Amino acid sequence: MDFRSDTLTKPTPEMRQAMITADVGDDVYGEDLTIQRLEAMGAELLGQEAALFCVSGSLANMLGLWLTVERGSEALCDSQAHIVRAEMGAHAGMHGITTRTWRSPVGVARLEDIEPLVSFVGGYLVKTSTIEIENTMNFASGAIQPLSNVQHIAQYCRDNDLALHLDGARLANACVATGTSLADYGRLATTVSLCLSKGLGAPVGTLLASSKENIAKARVQRKRLGAGWRQAGILAAAGIYALENNIERLAEDHQGARAFADEVRAVAPWAVATEIPTNIVVIGTGSLTADEVVAQAGTQGMIVTKLAAREVRVVTYLGITHEDCVTGGKILASILKNAEQS
Ligand SMILES: Cc1ncc(COP(=O)(O)O)c(C=O)c1O
Repeated sequence: MDFRSDTLTKPTPEMRQAMITADVGDDVYGEDLTIQRLEAMGAELLGQEAALFCVSGSLANMLGLWLTVERGSEALCDSQAHIVRAEMGAHAGMHGITTRTWRSPVGVARLEDIEPLVSFVGGYLVKTSTIEIENTMNFASGAIQPLSNVQHIAQYCRDNDLALHLDGARLANACVATGTSLADYGRLATTVSLCLSKGLGAPVGTLLASSKENIAKARVQRKRLGAGWRQAGILAAAGIYALENNIERLAEDHQGARAFADEVRAVAPWAVATEIPTNIVVIGTGSLTADEVVAQAGTQGMIVTKLAAREVRVVTYLGITHEDCVTGGKILASILKNAEQS
């Protein structure tokens, strides 16, 4: 049972069939009709004018921030944001973008935490260009950004000439859990991403959506970074299949994650600090180290991720059954039974 990440999904036979029969062409020449179909579909779903198929969520974030943050300016984000914790310094290293972070105990972005950080002064203070939020929050137990919070932040951005980038790697999880649409969130952002390769089950790919003008610029920068596609309609076909068939199914992953957390809480109530809204469970390891927990889980046939010295993460996804979640939760509970809250 491999609970490391929902990026581990493998294409189902039906998805593979869609890939085999995809119409393909050279996308750098603008000739891959399947990619064009996916991009049109993504733009509409996300409530934006245009979309760009990217190889990864990291690339979509890179291009999204590059569009609105000039070299030497800054983006503000949560201290747990994927862009600062897990994108290998790409935004600074490749695009000269600096970041400053706010702290939110449960990963929920609130304007009152963000506003005091905003710097409008050029000249001697780094100028804030963009606010970045992540929905759902990977490193904060899959926390959902409430739509009203995002509306407030978006309004503030509009009023103050700031851009809003929404890292929607798992936006579909947030929407399924709250009964909102992708466009409800997507249309609020200047630039928004949506990963097809996580819970949605495609092998590769993330959409970046924005205005037509922005997407045309991002297409050029993507090529500059060496990530122009050729006959990648094979991959886009998997993305189309994912959008048409795998969104509602995410609810099963959420139920599985809650079942996992319930098993752990039954024995170690301190270990799971928050409610589990989507498919990610961050578990404190108390007096055991995360390394010890990962090793003990391994001997019992289960893989979990070390997130910090005393924190592990479990992610549910297509291919992990509800039974796996209950069994996995029991295994982790048995490991934490003798640990103490630290
Ligand atoms: C919130 C978030 N954003 C972006 C990414 C990057 O996606 P990729 O691994 O496709 O680069 C991830 C990956 O897990 C993520 O969790």
